[in-house]
Amino acid sequence: MVFGGSRGIGAAIAERLARDGFDVAFTYASRSDRAAEVVAVIEKSGRRAIAIQADSADPAEIRGAVAHAVNELGILDVAVVNAGMLRRAPIETFGLEVFNLMLDVNVRGVFVAIQASVEQMRDGGRVVTIGSNTAIRTGSVGSSVYAMTKAAVAALVKGVALDLAPRRITVNNIQPGPTATDMTANMASTLEALVPLRRLGTPRETAALASYLVSHDAGFVTGASVTIDGGYVL
Ligand SMILES: NC(=O)c1ccc[n+]([C@@H]2O[C@H](COP(=O)([O-])OP(=O)(O)OC[C@H]3O[C@@H](n4cnc5c(N)ncnc54)[C@H](OP(=O)(O)O)[C@@H]3O)[C@@H](O)[C@H]2O)c1
Repeated sequence: MVFGGSRGIGAAIAERLARDGFDVAFTYASRSDRAAEVVAVIEKSGRRAIAIQADSADPAEIRGAVAHAVNELGILDVAVVNAGMLRRAPIETFGLEVFNLMLDVNVRGVFVAIQASVEQMRDGGRVVTIGSNTAIRTGSVGSSVYAMTKAAVAALVKGVALDLAPRRITVNNIQPGPTATDMTANMASTLEALVPLRRLGTPRETAALASYLVSHDAGFVTGASVTIDGGYVL
């Protein structure tokens, strides 16, 4: 199950998990066109794919999406909580409505997605969240709330990892740095210049890390936040 799998990092993870042999259900907010493209790619790789419209700002929709996925594909092996949003503004002008929405999607949405998923997950399963390296280095004016939400995810993952250890479910957080997706399309050249490796990351690179974290080999990794950012936070 991938939350937010229609574009960018989430789409790359959904497609990678299918190549790894999983059937994949994923949610999206509004881009049914892009969701259909991901379904086609996954089906081409020989696995089943289900796209479910479910807003991560709405706990009932998240729970409904998990129920739908389990109904179609069976009990979960893996949940990747990727859906997230970025709105930037300095503290003086940051509106409460946007503040609340960012918390709803980036924090409560992650909590509810994990809670709903692990209720329907086999023991020994895997949870991966997609945080951000801004949890370590905010880096730019206007990113305070975004960074706060991603720091919350990194902290949440540690406690949830402890909660789920008795069930051998591992819980880890990937912290990408600037990655080439729609989210960064209008600031790509500015970001590139700030990365020591002088390029943006690709969604496929993040997906490869997610693939490792959900693998059998990663069974002793839990509660970790793993940064993948070309050296940006160093
Ligand atoms: N790109 C970066 O540089 C970067 C760096 C660090 C962390 N991240 C994090 O990585 C994750 C993915 O980022 P991205 O760059 O791939 O973003 P993106 O290109 O904007 O794609 C976002 C994906 O999440 C879905 N989504 C967004 N809001 C949602 C909601 N309320 N309910 C359900 N689905 C929702 C979108 O669905 P629709 O297609 O329907 O809109 C889409 O599939 C986010 O959590 C982001 O904060 C990104």
